[in-house]
Amino acid sequence: MKDQIAKIKENSIKEISNCKDEKDLNGLKVKYLGKKGELTAVLRGMGSIAPEERPIIGSLVNQVRDELEAIIQEKEKELKKQELETRLETENIDVTEPSKKVKLGTLHPITQIIDEVEEIFLGMGYQIADGPEVEKAIYNFDKLNTPPDHPARDLQDTFYINENIVLRSQTSPVQARVMEEQKPPIKIICPGAVYRSDTVDATHSPVFHQIEGLVVDKNISMTDLKGTLEMFAKKCLGENTKIRFRPHHFPFTEPSAEADVSCFVCGGKGCKVCKGEGWIELLGCGMVHPNVLKNCGIDPEEYSGFAFGFGVERIAMAKFGIEDMRLLFENDIRFLKQF
Ligand code: DAH
Repeated sequence: MKDQIAKIKENSIKEISNCKDEKDLNGLKVKYLGKKGELTAVLRGMGSIAPEERPIIGSLVNQVRDELEAIIQEKEKELKKQELETRLETENIDVTEPSKKVKLGTLHPITQIIDEVEEIFLGMGYQIADGPEVEKAIYNFDKLNTPPDHPARDLQDTFYINENIVLRSQTSPVQARVMEEQKPPIKIICPGAVYRSDTVDATHSPVFHQIEGLVVDKNISMTDLKGTLEMFAKKCLGENTKIRFRPHHFPFTEPSAEADVSCFVCGGKGCKVCKGEGWIELLGCGMVHPNVLKNCGIDPEEYSGFAFGFGVERIAMAKFGIEDMRLLFENDIRFLKQF
């Protein structure tokens, strides 16, 4: 048996020293030291020798194993070094070759507007709120004082998932969710996607984005609303921007208004962007209807509030001079990278 071990040692050392690459070396490792390798086979055969011989053979096998392991490790280092040397000799690196440029995208114009509006309102102490796009009809309509026979609830206008669940047609339901969860003072804006059953054309899309604003506190009045919107318009559209209110109706505000801004392209003289009007319709707003406060657990005798909501696409189109809304959704890189 000792002879057998000596033979294994001799053969393996010869093979290892002749070995040319790491793959072969791994093969030899398995062949001699592996579970089914030759040295292990010797240990398995120990049953057939005299008991007093066993420890001697055992320690001899271990000694050879250690030696082989050391030799293999040494060889491994040598092969690695050799490989590196050949690579250094044969490979040449062309340092003048142009690098592969990382293609950095740009923020989508809609995202840019949302970021900018968030920045402005955060600066005025508002918080950003969020709500689900698949919304309960009760939040999209009922809590917002929109009765069951209101035309906005028509199947023609709103996407219904079932009788009680809709794709939200406005960001206003977030108002109700926030009022139910938070006690006044409340100062939030909520940007997000909304859905309406509209046919796609240059100014309509079945999905678009709105930003909703809500303030509820003691003694909030219409002047707070106007001051806030004026400040926002100046920051977003330019220092000289003026704002005007026109009476309107929304079920969730009383009184309600639509707010226009003086055209930030022509300054009010009349141009293509404002279609000769000098004014551009910006948003819907008003004083939160007492019924809405009540529906959301806030006492209208104690608190009052204002709210507003506007379309992000409309602002993006006006600000960036985009004439067709479809461009904002087609996501053609050639178009998007201009912003
Ligand atoms: N939700 C309205 C719409 O989609 C916009 C709006 C009007 C929001 C008045 C408001 C508001 O918060 O007070 O047309």
